[in-house]
Amino acid sequence: MSRILTITFSPCIDKSTSIQELLPDKKLKCSSPKIEPGGGGINVARAIGKLGGKAVALYPSGGCTGKILDQLLKNERVSIISIRMKQETRENIIVFENSTNKQFRLGMPGNDLSKTECQELFKIITRINNLNFIVASGSLPPGIPPNFIARIADIAKRKHAKLIIDTSGEPLRSALAEGVYMIKPNASELSYLANKEYLQENEIADEAKKIITSGQCEIIIVSLGAKGALLVTKDKATRIVAPPVRTISTVGAGDSMVAGIIMGLSKGYDIETAAKYGVACGTAATMNPGTELCHKEDADKLFTQIRSLTGIPALV
Ligand SMILES: Nc1ncnc2c1ncn2[C@@H]1O[C@H](COP(=O)(O)OP(=O)(O)OP(=O)(O)O)[C@@H](O)[C@H]1O
Ligand SMILES: [Mg+2]
Repeated sequence: MSRILTITFSPCIDKSTSIQELLPDKKLKCSSPKIEPGGGGINVARAIGKLGGKAVALYPSGGCTGKILDQLLKNERVSIISIRMKQETRENIIVFENSTNKQFRLGMPGNDLSKTECQELFKIITRINNLNFIVASGSLPPGIPPNFIARIADIAKRKHAKLIIDTSGEPLRSALAEGVYMIKPNASELSYLANKEYLQENEIADEAKKIITSGQCEIIIVSLGAKGALLVTKDKATRIVAPPVRTISTVGAGDSMVAGIIMGLSKGYDIETAAKYGVACGTAATMNPGTELCHKEDADKLFTQIRSLTGIPALV
């Protein structure tokens, strides 16, 4: 079995509740809250667990909310390495308004990591041996230098571990400058890399190809929401279509997709088949409410459907 480490820089706990109508000034009665762990790498590790694999989640954790986060992950049998941090782990609030069917997502700012806490994180990544995959996913909290992931890229290369990045902006750009195995941007994250406000569908493959040709990464899987994904390698660009499903909540779709791609690669699938499993897992996640990730049975059914379709050559 592959050894997988996921890294989350700005984890959180997500507290979801529902209410009839969100009104100012009044005392409002909410339903019993559901508390779930959150943050890119943490969700990838959780989704890998749901798909029958195993990953270790590395993240900073602080205060009472940090203890709750650790416990929630232990309850789900996710292996954790949590670094003590001085600040309290952030808590996000998700409120579903029954009268309008609208979801309000209130995100608190990410925690500042001290220099010592950052060093501790690097020390641990450096110490873990025989890793096949390292996943760095999610936003960087304020105060962390944008080259933070680039330094992880350097460690990954020395360890001969495949580094997969799912983040945005300058941290993504600087990680690419160091060289990584794979990135999973959405169209807007890729536009940022291309210094463009927006990319037309026919420009996406071109821009991804430029990054690969420049030697910054081997594989780019651009997720396209309900349209599925575009897999770009040095040889070709292939569109993978997401089967139509009844979408309930798209929260966690990107993380479930990354988990599916890694599970596919761990099983020895070629990259196109692994990307198809990723799309199946991303789409499966959208069938569940709130922050819930993919279910294996849904993902497996969708995978069978996707495999029966042949990849469409990208519009280039
Ligand atoms: N509305 C949808 N219907 C079907 N599948 C979807 C939908 N939205 C997302 N997906 C699936 O999830 C995958 C990832 O979604 P998306 O492109 O929205 O990623 P993202 O922008 O990184 O999302 P996130 O907000 O989770 O970071 C898609 O490739 C697709 O397989
Ligand atoms: Mg995303």
